[in-house]
Amino acid sequence: MYDADQQKVLLNRTKAFLQAKEKLDTDNVDALRDVLRFHEWRYYVQDNPAIADPEYDQLFKQLQAFEEKHPDQVTPDSPTQRVASDLTKEFPEVNHLRPMLSLDNSYNEEDLRDWDRRVRSFLEQDAKVEYSVEPKFDGASIAIVYEDDYLRRGATRGNGTTGEDVTPNVKVMNTVPLKAPFSENGIKRIEVRGEVMINKAHFKHFNEQRMAEGLSILANPRNAASGSLRMQDAKEVAKRGLEAYLYQVGIAEDAEGNSMLDEAVTTHAESIALLNKLGFKTPTDEIRVCTRMEEVLAYCREWEEKRDDYPYEIDGMVIKVNRFDQQEQCGYTSHHP
Ligand code: IVH
Repeated sequence: MYDADQQKVLLNRTKAFLQAKEKLDTDNVDALRDVLRFHEWRYYVQDNPAIADPEYDQLFKQLQAFEEKHPDQVTPDSPTQRVASDLTKEFPEVNHLRPMLSLDNSYNEEDLRDWDRRVRSFLEQDAKVEYSVEPKFDGASIAIVYEDDYLRRGATRGNGTTGEDVTPNVKVMNTVPLKAPFSENGIKRIEVRGEVMINKAHFKHFNEQRMAEGLSILANPRNAASGSLRMQDAKEVAKRGLEAYLYQVGIAEDAEGNSMLDEAVTTHAESIALLNKLGFKTPTDEIRVCTRMEEVLAYCREWEEKRDDYPYEIDGMVIKVNRFDQQEQCGYTSHHP
């Protein structure tokens, strides 16, 4: 997302703004926004903050003060626009751009070997198949639409065809960019999908706080994530520490409405790498591309070992045919690919 040179420049600008060497005005306010976005990315996506919280707050307040004085200059992707100022009254229903299907389940190695044989039967004889393997995150699924690089809508899965429009609650998640440069890759409209989660440590802390306040405790991180996503007050949602991990591109279209899937990227692993490069939190470190079923099984076993120490709840592993053209050749039922 940011190479070493860009980071150096942004860190220098950070210093300049912190020392208030530059007076904030119409010409450099965007530079401050870029600085704040960079630090959000370091903090939330990279888990490696470059400045201390009070310094970030100081910069944020500088921007807030400027925007209060110049409301006409507030941009929709300004870091100040994450927390919605008013309450959402209800969630309108929205249709997903493409149905959100379910995953088919396997519970043992024999099931998986059968599935591998079935996949190969759909492809040309002796075709090479790659599988990408990643954790199945136990949270609440979400579909986020960007158009002309701006976040336009965030919706819950609902019944797979229709979900609830929870855009204000999606916007408060710092792991979700309000603007991402999809257009640089020729993409005008894109629906990205993922899982909203609360990490285990945050969940524990959150429940301890609730207990201290005499409130009921929440059953598990998944319930906490899906309940939080549907809260009416986006400011409350912001306090819950929700994070979104993006694991799928639903649709990607150019200006003429033609599909860009298989144009901009040709495999699932590449699509995740692209989302990561554009500033999203993705299971990049967790994905492994395997060429043989033995490797898939070994990687699943590896996760059985480390699952308890992983910061998020997972409830299995997801195995995907990596190449999009091969995914198409395998097809899907009304329930799952
Ligand atoms: S891919 C066809 N990848 O599992 C569905 N889903 O039953 C393609 N999930 O509600 C989804 N982790 O929210 C995919 N790494 C992952 C996932 C994942 C969790 C959830 C998803 C959906 C359910 C599918």
